[in-house]
Amino acid sequence: MKHEVIVVGGGIIGCTIAYFLAQAGAEVAVMERDHVGAHASSAAAGMLGAQVEMSFPGPMVDLCLASRRMFPELQHELWEQTGVDVELNRAGMLRLAWDEEEKKRLQERGQWQQRQGECAHWCEGDALWRDEPELSRAVKGALSLPLDVQLHAPRWLKAMELRARQLGVQFYSGMEVQALLMRKGSVSGVETALGSFEANQVVLAAGAWSAALARTAGVKVPIVPVKGESLALQVPVPLFNKTYFSKGCYLVPKAEQQVIVGATEIHHTFTRGVSAEAIQLLLSEAIRLVPALKESTFLRSWSSIRPGSSDRMPFLGPVTEVGNLYLACGHFRNGILLSPITGKWIAEAMMGKKNPVLSSFSLDRLGVDTGADRREVVKYDSN
Ligand code: FAD
Ligand code: GLY
Repeated sequence: MKHEVIVVGGGIIGCTIAYFLAQAGAEVAVMERDHVGAHASSAAAGMLGAQVEMSFPGPMVDLCLASRRMFPELQHELWEQTGVDVELNRAGMLRLAWDEEEKKRLQERGQWQQRQGECAHWCEGDALWRDEPELSRAVKGALSLPLDVQLHAPRWLKAMELRARQLGVQFYSGMEVQALLMRKGSVSGVETALGSFEANQVVLAAGAWSAALARTAGVKVPIVPVKGESLALQVPVPLFNKTYFSKGCYLVPKAEQQVIVGATEIHHTFTRGVSAEAIQLLLSEAIRLVPALKESTFLRSWSSIRPGSSDRMPFLGPVTEVGNLYLACGHFRNGILLSPITGKWIAEAMMGKKNPVLSSFSLDRLGVDTGADRREVVKYDSN
């Protein structure tokens, strides 16, 4: 069986790439080991935090901002074509400071973001508590980021999957890719438990599991698993509308008076489940930030694995030493936010369009041994 393009991984990154490719007329198959959205993409809080999570200027911020700008139009198209409401909440975000040192750091962050032309302003004291009456009086102030918005991540993924299907993308669920097939130094398809599939081009979008698959083509992609645990609360009355982001936790208000409290960051583990310690920590930080949350009802908790990279930036674009192979992995804490720009740029690159900005996100940027010159092929281990 042959496809023009095979995308490995049915998370938000794989689905969005498939959508952009199909829209440009390509014949695309997405191969997913479990089911579409089985992992990190459905666990996400849905923050489009192009400013809230960025500590210093650089290509990553620019990528995040470019992606955030794509949401309104894309969300509108998905809603028109699929009827899925992704519950875009445009109330904005507050990055909160607990002490003077953090206040100084956040004010500096606001300044460089303003210099970049972004909307960011400092707010404290009565002016802050007038607008946010439930916020703890112990916070020293907040960097207000009105353009950092948030949506319902599983619905965003569902809308993207449905639209990709409408455009003719073929989805294979329960299809674990076990190796990338090589012919004369280029990828020629994938090997699965159900046999081989040929392809002209293959995109590796397997999230935290991408490194294991890349090794089957002799390429080392330094992606590490970073577990995140979250929980949801039901509040009796709406307490706040903006997203609150602090050092200890973030609080993301959702429809039906629910609040997502996130998230832990545990490096180098693929283990699942939510620990009692994580729940204790997240709840105590949440109640510290908004004391009225102690009246809320605990609804559920969940965990998943983020695809982390050493410099917190994704790997995007072709692999220099291996033909026909494209990387779209390592989106760490920002894969929902980065899905539109990733989908667009990867699809364009695969159609031959040159994009100099992609070099900032290539595997070569780390200057580390990626092993591609020696082609040290390692057998796939799914963890
Ligand atoms: P995944 O969603 O993990 O998808 C990868 C897919 O590949 C999986 O479905 C997997 O089954 C499949 N796969 C793996 N190996 C194979 C194989 N061998 N063959 C076939 N298929 C395979 N980001 C934001 O932007 N905003 C947020 O608010 C946010 N909050 C988060 C909160 C938590 C608790 C967590 C854990 C993450 C959060 N993130 C957030 C990060 C975001 O979820 C990830 O960056 C994003 O989901 C990565 O998408 P992905 O498609 O690369 O990975
Ligand atoms: N971006 C939020 C998280 O990864 O937890």
